Amino acid sequence: MKAKDIRKKYIDFFTSKGHKEIKSSSLIPDNDPTCLFTTAGMHPLVPYLSGEKHPLGTRLTDYQKCIRTGDIDEVGDAVHLTFFEMLGNWSLGDYFKEDAIKFSFEFLTGENNLNIPLERLAFTVFAGDEDAPFDEEAYNLWQSLGVSPDRIAKLPKKDNWWGPAGQTGPCGPDTEMFYWTGTEAAPKVFDPSDKRWVEIWNDVFMQYNKQADGTFVPLAQKNVDTGMGLERVTAILQGKSSCYDTEIFAPTFAKLDEIRGVEASAERTSSERIIADHLRAATFIMADGITPGKVDQPYVLRRLIRRAIKNGRNLEINGHFCAKIAEVYIEQLGDVYPELVAKKAIILEEMEKEETQFETTLEKGTKEFEKLIERVPAHVQKKVISGKNAFFLYETYGFPVELTAEMAQERGFTVDMEGYKQAYEKHQALSRQGAEQKFKGGLADNSEETAKLHTATHLLQAALRKVLGNHVEQRGSNITAERLRFDFSHEEKMTPEQLAEVEKLVNEAIQAKVDVVCEEMDIEDAKNSGAMGLFEHKYAEKVKVYTMGSFSKEICGGPHAANTGDLGSFKIKKEESSSRGVRRIKAVIASNK
Ligand code: ALA
Repeated sequence: MKAKDIRKKYIDFFTSKGHKEIKSSSLIPDNDPTCLFTTAGMHPLVPYLSGEKHPLGTRLTDYQKCIRTGDIDEVGDAVHLTFFEMLGNWSLGDYFKEDAIKFSFEFLTGENNLNIPLERLAFTVFAGDEDAPFDEEAYNLWQSLGVSPDRIAKLPKKDNWWGPAGQTGPCGPDTEMFYWTGTEAAPKVFDPSDKRWVEIWNDVFMQYNKQADGTFVPLAQKNVDTGMGLERVTAILQGKSSCYDTEIFAPTFAKLDEIRGVEASAERTSSERIIADHLRAATFIMADGITPGKVDQPYVLRRLIRRAIKNGRNLEINGHFCAKIAEVYIEQLGDVYPELVAKKAIILEEMEKEETQFETTLEKGTKEFEKLIERVPAHVQKKVISGKNAFFLYETYGFPVELTAEMAQERGFTVDMEGYKQAYEKHQALSRQGAEQKFKGGLADNSEETAKLHTATHLLQAALRKVLGNHVEQRGSNITAERLRFDFSHEEKMTPEQLAEVEKLVNEAIQAKVDVVCEEMDIEDAKNSGAMGLFEHKYAEKVKVYTMGSFSKEICGGPHAANTGDLGSFKIKKEESSSRGVRRIKAVIASNK
């Protein structure tokens, strides 16, 4: 079965069970999460898992683009990917364990579905601890469907608990489904430590809310959140030990072979896999409006592309190749993710630009790197590249520090990351947090303060469009309880007069004390009403439109303040470049309590 058939079967199955299909959200989380990327299917649904009403109802299904950079250094082996698609189904306070498990069982084993023989399946359930009891219900439900208790393992929190996506939020015990990949018959008794059992699906029973103090409070609404990694399940069902050996990556490798003028090989090297993975991730990140830059998502994007280029050099590719690989993915997945097609010209252009930019320095930087290495005598035991030198390579030659670390490792060196961080902070005065720390994500909270700043973000966007023009569009936002950060398309640095004008307009809207009105409507009606369609590709039919008097009208998932008058006075703290053609504003509101 091909990935595209599995994707379709999954969505068809869950829509036949009363689920509404929602479109994949952007890879860039909107609203409040401090995570850089969408990491799971549930991620964009956090407000709804926390109790907010979803416009399409209580049963949802989708395939969601995800990026996880936590294991980026592992990419190159047979299984790791930074970008992947996650199939998922959700119950928002609708069905719970019984139907979730029955649906999973039917989809896995049903003749018209994945048709996996029961002998090849095993399951895990939560064993219980001081936070939550043993999941006896899940344990019994699998047995009621004919699963032998020998094939159900009871495991602790480290294995059978999922979430929250950030540090707080919805989470709960899960039950995981495993597939036997061995060539011989599966053992009667399931041993989860046997690597031939591979996890293919996870049903999470989200019944707790993890608080900032680490305690678990029962959620008023009990939800189901499931996730099945498409690339992995495709490989498994095709009897392949690596997702890189499926049709998902075949056209990319064929293109790489063509570029290199070599014959196809059965087993792909780590460099080939890194290129295939990283450029796929980069293509998708660009399709969501990000261009390479120095911080946050633009920095991750740059790092992915530069690492791919470096691995291209390992394969002795000397010309440009990134745009050619991007084109393969756009062609292959453009019908599933239309944003790839819509952004094709920009993606190819930016790939070229980044490759040109990096190419001019790669050679010189590598020479500098070699000099640093040579300076250390062979007999020195602990070979270290200082933080200062790593920062020099970054600043002068655009070497992401992770690339330096990787090159260093190949030569038996390490990089003083702590020293690098200090040098970075000192020279750039950019962010108090080291860039690499941001990969880890953080809080995604729905607090009142965050909601207010979210409302202020809508007013800010409307004001920017009034002052700068209608080319201003949101490119990203990141909102915490303390401040808002808003990225938007605009070429030049804003003048002090423009900033003052924007601030004034936002404060006028706040002083006007207008109600924030939320209406649910069809996407077409929303567009006709003149609402800004920031997240147009997010929902299938129904959307929420938030209106603030005559100031602002936007499609958005919430949450918001009830009245603009709740906001307190708005102040822009900083305006700076975020990436090419994108400016960033950081702003706060002074509490009016
Ligand atoms: N959110 C769960 C996961 O990512 C389903 O595994």
